[in-house]
Amino acid sequence: MVRGCERVSPMREAILLVGGQGTRLRPLTINTPKPMLPVAGVPFTVHQILRARDAGITRIVLATSYRADVFASFIADADLGIDVVIATEEVPLGTGGAIRFASSFLEGGPQDPVVIFNGDVLTGLDIDALVNTHQDSAADVTLYLTQVADPRAYGLVPTSPEGRVLQFLEKPQTPEEIVTDQINAGCYVFTRSVIEGIPEGRPVSVEREIFPELLAAGQTVMGVVDPGYWLDLGQPMDFVRGSVDLVVGNAPSPAVVNPGGSLVLAEAVIDATARVDGGTTIGVGSRIGANSQINASVVFDSAVIGSDVTITNSIIGEGSVIGDSCVISDSVVGDFAQVGAGNELRAGARVWVNAQLGDRAIRFSTDK
Ligand code: GDD
Ligand code: MG
Repeated sequence: MVRGCERVSPMREAILLVGGQGTRLRPLTINTPKPMLPVAGVPFTVHQILRARDAGITRIVLATSYRADVFASFIADADLGIDVVIATEEVPLGTGGAIRFASSFLEGGPQDPVVIFNGDVLTGLDIDALVNTHQDSAADVTLYLTQVADPRAYGLVPTSPEGRVLQFLEKPQTPEEIVTDQINAGCYVFTRSVIEGIPEGRPVSVEREIFPELLAAGQTVMGVVDPGYWLDLGQPMDFVRGSVDLVVGNAPSPAVVNPGGSLVLAEAVIDATARVDGGTTIGVGSRIGANSQINASVVFDSAVIGSDVTITNSIIGEGSVIGDSCVISDSVVGDFAQVGAGNELRAGARVWVNAQLGDRAIRFSTDK
C-alpha cells in the first residue's frame, strides 16, 4: 500500500486546566471548584468536554488540584463519549506546571498537537480550525486570541500581520504595557515535544514564564484571532451572563439541546403566579413561591425561594433559603445560607456559605 501522499491524522488530545481555587467566585467555590459549578444544568466542565469531543478530540486530561475529589466522583459516573483522565497535583503547580504534569497522561507522539483549555472560558471557537492552523504553520504553540475593550485582566498578545506572536504580557501593570486589545482567550495548542521543555516538579506559570521564554528563544508561536463568542466565567456577573447565554442559545454547547427563555430542571416547583425568565436556570428540586420574579439568574439545586421575591442577575446557592419579599440583584448567596424575609441585597453583595441573615437585616430603602 502506498502511504506517501496520505495525510496521516495526528492523535488529538487535550488538557483541561481545572485546578485553580476560583477565588473571585467565592463563596460559590468553597464547596465546589469553579469548573464543577452547574451552568445551564450541567457542570461547566461538561460543556467544555463535549465541545472538545465534537472537535474530534478523543482523550482529555483534567489537570486538577483544588477539590480534585469533586471531579473524580463526577467523572466516575459520567459517560461523555470521550476518554476522560484525571491528573491530580498534590500541590498546585500553576498553569505551566499543570500542563507538564498532565502531559505524562497523554498517549500521542512528540509531534502531535495537544490542545490546552482554561477551565472557565465559554467560547464559540472552531477548535478544529485552530489545530489545523497550528499544523499548517508548523508552529510550536498556537494561541486562540480574542479582542476585548479592557484587556488589563488578561494576557496581552500582540501579533504581526502574518499572525506571529510578538510578545506575551500577562496582566499588564502600566498603561505603556497596553499595546493591543488582543488577549489570550484561554485555549492554545502545543506541539507535544514543546511541553516536555517545561520544568518539572515546581510551580510554573505558562503565561508569565513559558510563553515569554519561547518567544525569546525565537520559537514559532502563532496567534489566531477569532471574533466569535468568548467569555471568562471567573467572576460572579460573568458567570451569570455565561449561564444565561447558554440557556438562551447565544453561546454554543452540545449540552444545551433546546435553548429557550429559561431552564427549569427536574423536580423544581414553580408557583403558577411566579415568573421565571431572561435565561434563568432553576436547579433540581428548587421551589419558587407565589408572585416571585426571577430574571437572568442562576438558582442552584434544592433552594427555597419565598413569595413576592425579586431576583435579578444573581446566583442563589444550593440549599439556600430566601425569605418572602426579598429583593436580590447583582449578588451572590452562598450554599445553605438563610436570608430572612424582607432583605435587600444589591450591587455585588455576597452572603457566605451557611450564613444566617435575620428578617429585614439589610434594607436600602427607608421604611415609612
Ligand atoms: N491544574 C491546575 N493547577 N490548574 C490551575 C492552576 C494550578 O495550579 N492554577 C490555575 N489553574 C487553572 C484554573 O482553574 C483556570 O481554569 C485556568 O488555569 C486559568 O486560571 P485563572 O485563574 O482563570 O486565570 P485568569 O482568568 O486570571 O487568566 C488566564 O485566563 C485568561 C483568559 O480567560 C490567563 O491564561 C490569561 O492569559 C488569559 O487571558
Ligand atoms: Mg479565568
